[in-house]
Amino acid sequence: MDRDQVAEHLKFASELGVAGVSRDPAWRERGVGRERPGPVGDGLQTVPTQGTVPPPGAFPLHMSPSPAEGLTAVRTEIGDCTRCKLHGLGRRQIVFGVGSPTADLMFVGEAPGHDEDVQGIPFVGRAGQLLTKIIEAIGLKREDVYIANVIKCRPPENRNPERDEVETCEPFLFQQIDIIKPKVIVALGKFGAQTLLRTLDPISRLRGRVYEYRGAKLVPTFHPAYLLRNPSSKREVWEDMKLVRTLLK
Ligand code: URA
Repeated sequence: MDRDQVAEHLKFASELGVAGVSRDPAWRERGVGRERPGPVGDGLQTVPTQGTVPPPGAFPLHMSPSPAEGLTAVRTEIGDCTRCKLHGLGRRQIVFGVGSPTADLMFVGEAPGHDEDVQGIPFVGRAGQLLTKIIEAIGLKREDVYIANVIKCRPPENRNPERDEVETCEPFLFQQIDIIKPKVIVALGKFGAQTLLRTLDPISRLRGRVYEYRGAKLVPTFHPAYLLRNPSSKREVWEDMKLVRTLLK
């Protein structure tokens, strides 16, 4: 690392609330001998994309809706959803998505937690506050990006979403992606990455690479909630976010 890279790394760490540097040799050795991700575009994998499902009858054929109108149409289509069992398992409201309808960068998480269920906005709890810092660390604001989840309703006790719930809900995420047309999608955590990429590979193997996904570049990284429990993994997330920054240029 040269001086500028060290300074940049330290700034990222301090913005994310890392208070000190570990003296533990095991920590310092992490990554030694680990394969480095190749240059951007290296190891690109093509992932089959899902068909676009246009919001039914939302606009006359001769009028193409703006992205904001398109998103509103999808939200209207979802309505007060009762398509899967989560509607009867204690969810307060649907957490659709937030941010710029024309964002170049989109983040996809797993499912709303308690705070998101109360406020109706994705990533507003502790993990969300860390996500906001991660976004700001690459020079963007929350309003510049779009944030959504695979699942729009909170699963009880924050359990993992079940297969039928994913299958019912993910077409709405696909519509959001197809309307926003982001250049880059960051899949946050194991669940988001595995669902989008249709794989059971662990997030530690998926991250550090770029995937083709629905016309965007997809970068998997660790979930902010995981980072709260494992702060030393912020280093890998910073690598992933630098990759994102390069892809956005
Ligand atoms: N975790 C997620 O995956 N999504 C949220 O919106 C909040 C926490």
